Amino acid sequence: MHILAINGSHRAGKGTAALLQAALEQAAACGAETELVELARLDIGYCAGCNACLAKPTCTLSDDMDGLVEKMRVADGIILGSPDYFANVSARMKTFIDRTRPLHMAENVLKGKVGGMVSTSGLDNCGAEETMGVMDRFFAVHEMLVVHPRPAGPVLANGATGSQFAGFDERGRVQWRRVEDDTTAFAFARQLGVDMAELVRRLVEK
Ligand SMILES: Cc1cc2nc3c(=O)[nH]c(=O)nc-3n(C[C@H](O)[C@H](O)[C@H](O)COP(=O)(O)O)c2cc1C
Repeated sequence: MHILAINGSHRAGKGTAALLQAALEQAAACGAETELVELARLDIGYCAGCNACLAKPTCTLSDDMDGLVEKMRVADGIILGSPDYFANVSARMKTFIDRTRPLHMAENVLKGKVGGMVSTSGLDNCGAEETMGVMDRFFAVHEMLVVHPRPAGPVLANGATGSQFAGFDERGRVQWRRVEDDTTAFAFARQLGVDMAELVRRLVEK
């Protein structure tokens, strides 16, 4: 069982990476082989819009996307992570998403694989749901099966969405925290790892 996490943050190893790592650690504890790929460490160019992938499942560009596509082909589960940038995914994540078009036009390569997503935001209620929605839609376009985790305890539906918002002080000024201190988001991320591993096992090892 292979579970691959792809981080669209411009800041490798920061808040979004921490949430992804939490999910991967739980997946590994459930028996998965895991890997975290930082898009910030790769050279992935914009889709050129040439439409060559309408005819055959290849891309006219050649860069670090080639290796990442091979990892996605092997993976049973793929977790995307992106910071919330203006209620959307980062430009780095969107560039990656666009470059996966050859995987779903002439062929439907990712069909039936398991997907899941995490996001991080500066504030609460300031675009996390939309950011998650973009990644959710990515999985739908690829006809993947998406895990929406819900750990025991908090009755929330917005998934593993971490924030740096720690409330207001007595004078109404915003207080900040590290995403790593958002315990609810990490509970969701850990549940995502467990649920993904369970679903992959049901699909692959039944
Ligand atoms: C260009 C830019 C746009 C952002 N837009 C939003 C936003 O719309 N809503 C929000 O809550 N936070 C926003 N943020 C804050 C980031 O989502 C937040 O810092 C995130 O946790 C960074 O993740 P990282 O630690 O992986 O870099 C924005 C940050 C930047 C740099």
